[in-house]
Amino acid sequence: MFKVGVITASDKGSAGEREDLSGKAIIDILEGKGYTIEKYIVLPDDEDSLSSEMIYMSDELKVDLILTTGGTGFSKRDVTPESTIKVCDRMAPGIAEAMRYYSLSITPRAMLSRAVSGIRKDTLIINLPGSPKAVKESLEYIISSIHHGLEILT
Ligand code: MTE
Repeated sequence: MFKVGVITASDKGSAGEREDLSGKAIIDILEGKGYTIEKYIVLPDDEDSLSSEMIYMSDELKVDLILTTGGTGFSKRDVTPESTIKVCDRMAPGIAEAMRYYSLSITPRAMLSRAVSGIRKDTLIINLPGSPKAVKESLEYIISSIHHGLEILT
């Protein structure tokens, strides 16, 4: 089964000031579908920390999929998309587009997500929004197509 790395981008979460319910929501959904969670980490909203972790999970742990949550909005500290673009060899924009398309039927604020999706070597990297509600809505919509994509990639 596919191996997954989960990264929560949250200044408050990494400082222990907020419980990370979004990362846990990702893990719950994926474990329920038989995926193996290889590593889960909460990091501050810092471009170098996020990019380095994505490179480590891809190149060293060789996970098939990296899911991030948080840091996709308009706050000055939101740098998850930039960290992701920096490490990807090829972008796969359809996944982020699909999440926004579906999410717009739930809330017009979905247009505020700057999430991106792309491929580094053999690893697919997808940004999810920050709230547990948005994580569930987005991930449940894309997961079956992602599974097919991973079969082609690996
Ligand atoms: N997508 C879904 N499915 N459900 C939501 O409630 N919230 C939006 C958006 N995407 C939302 C959503 C909001 S309010 C914002 S600001 C952006 O995601 C970015 O969220 P982030 O900064 O927490 O990553």
